[in-house]
Amino acid sequence: MSDVILSLQHLHKRFGALQATHDVSLELHQGEIHALIGPNGAGKSTLIGQIAGNLRPDEGSVFLAGTEITQMSIAQRARLGLGRSFQVSSLAEPLSVMRNVMMGVQALQSHSFRFWKPIARDKALLEPAYEALERMQLSHRAWTPVSELSHGERRQVEVACALALKPRALLLDEPMAGLGPEGSAKLTELLEALKHEVPILLIEHDMEAVFRLADRISVLVSGSVIAHGDSHAIKQDPRVREAYLGNDDA
Ligand SMILES: Nc1ncnc2c1ncn2[C@@H]1O[C@H](COP(=O)(O)OP(=O)(O)O)[C@@H](O)[C@H]1O
Ligand SMILES: [Mg+2]
Repeated sequence: MSDVILSLQHLHKRFGALQATHDVSLELHQGEIHALIGPNGAGKSTLIGQIAGNLRPDEGSVFLAGTEITQMSIAQRARLGLGRSFQVSSLAEPLSVMRNVMMGVQALQSHSFRFWKPIARDKALLEPAYEALERMQLSHRAWTPVSELSHGERRQVEVACALALKPRALLLDEPMAGLGPEGSAKLTELLEALKHEVPILLIEHDMEAVFRLADRISVLVSGSVIAHGDSHAIKQDPRVREAYLGNDDA
């Protein structure tokens, strides 16, 4: 199917005796948010690692827009259009928002001569960075140091860093974590608008955000997908209720 942007096929990953990913297959389609939910330790971050390239699956394949990327490096995958944000922030606190986003673009363009150019005057970096900040409704904060931003604004910058690279697909690992209701609501609204431009594979514990945003949900428990479906189907699924929704740990 041509609208499949990301396809995971029969992924397996072990850490010693632990089967962290067991035969996981799923697809991310154009124009959608596909949420991946599951209790702590279910293997969500391990799965994201295999998609983004910091982990190699023991078996199985990953395709981005029809190209197999299973053995590619992180940088190669990023150049092919895989964008991601991290569960732990990687922003440089003393630098401006704009500078942070531009550094991300620069790292990917990474022709060595670029290092000799003053970064702040480089249009090839400024334009995509500014555009990404506008999409995250943060252009008014472009020259503010990251250290002065609220927690929610930092999350918006992190997404902007990924967006500035003009990805074909976006991987977000718990973007709402640690945000108050206001920050979550804002980010939810921004992601809802964004999905029409970039499909998103979303790992998220905030179930209100998941049920509002996700076109499809896959439920991961102990490394295996135990259910796939839309919000309605997942809410009703007795296995999901037992394994996850009734679990306070979530
Ligand atoms: N590098 C690693 N080495 C060994 N075990 C790991 C490693 N990374 C994750 N794990 C284990 O794999 C399981 C899945 O972890 P993780 O993918 O982080 O879960 P989640 O993101 O769903 O909370 C956990 O039991 C975790 O302890
Ligand atoms: Mg995790």
